[in-house]
Amino acid sequence: MNTSSTAYINGKFLPLSEVTISPLDRGFIFGDGVYEAIPVYAGLAFRLDSHLQRLENSLIAIRLDNPCSNEQWRDIVNQLIEKNQSGDQSLYIQVTRGVAERDHAFPATKSATVFAMSKPLPAYQQEPIKAITRKDIRWQWCHIKSTALLGNLLLRQEAIDAGCQESILLRDGILTEGAASNVFIVKNNKIFTPEKNNNILPGITRDITIELAKENNIDITETKINEQELLNADEIWVTSATKEIAPVIELNGKPINGGETGPICQTLQNLFNQFKQTLRDHS
Ligand SMILES: Cc1ncc(COP(=O)(O)O)c(C=O)c1O
Repeated sequence: MNTSSTAYINGKFLPLSEVTISPLDRGFIFGDGVYEAIPVYAGLAFRLDSHLQRLENSLIAIRLDNPCSNEQWRDIVNQLIEKNQSGDQSLYIQVTRGVAERDHAFPATKSATVFAMSKPLPAYQQEPIKAITRKDIRWQWCHIKSTALLGNLLLRQEAIDAGCQESILLRDGILTEGAASNVFIVKNNKIFTPEKNNNILPGITRDITIELAKENNIDITETKINEQELLNADEIWVTSATKEIAPVIELNGKPINGGETGPICQTLQNLFNQFKQTLRDHS
């Protein structure tokens, strides 16, 4: 962990190692907060407006006033990028309901805690992964990007314990998403992905993948996918800001597409890379 990187806490930029919060912060005590993870390519926060909109949606859903205007967020994000040597990074921003006496009820006085940090983009982007299927044991408001991630953590750890990198989740036999990713499948050259609802996080990388497929006349449908359709898929991949588009080459110990990245996944990875390159060229 690079603790000498610069972080942001409640109006101040500080070395990460010097950031402190109260043990009474409701983020610490209850997981009463929301967050965003934003990829930065060549010093530019990727799809920042979409991330800020999703943050606003999460804050509305947990009845917490947005502590910053979009202009203030953009300023915090851009200063943080610059103070961490620009280039490629992964930015994390978090808002909690702040410090208050421990009580389930919301505190009468509002004092949100705003925290942001930067770390290098992980090296495993787009790498093929192995996955397992698991019952989606999480709560029913998965569209909120809540810091309370215990269900996701337990499910991700089950994948790690099984020698895999991700758990793909099914609620009542219907595919929802990964422990920290959205899921796409291919059958007969057509792409399918679960529709947006309260069972999945509306991933920004998911949106970009759908846009790229549509712009390039690749058949894509947002729909319900059942367990058999998942298990019989020709290709599967997951998307997230950190994994980008990562092919699942083994599910529950069985190879998918012969254990290789499938052709449609490869096409989308190429389109995604071209898209990023265009951004880099204009930065
Ligand atoms: C549960 C869950 N679903 C989906 C995603 C993908 O979202 P995004 O593409 O915006 O990173 C994430 C990202 O962390 C996640 O935690």
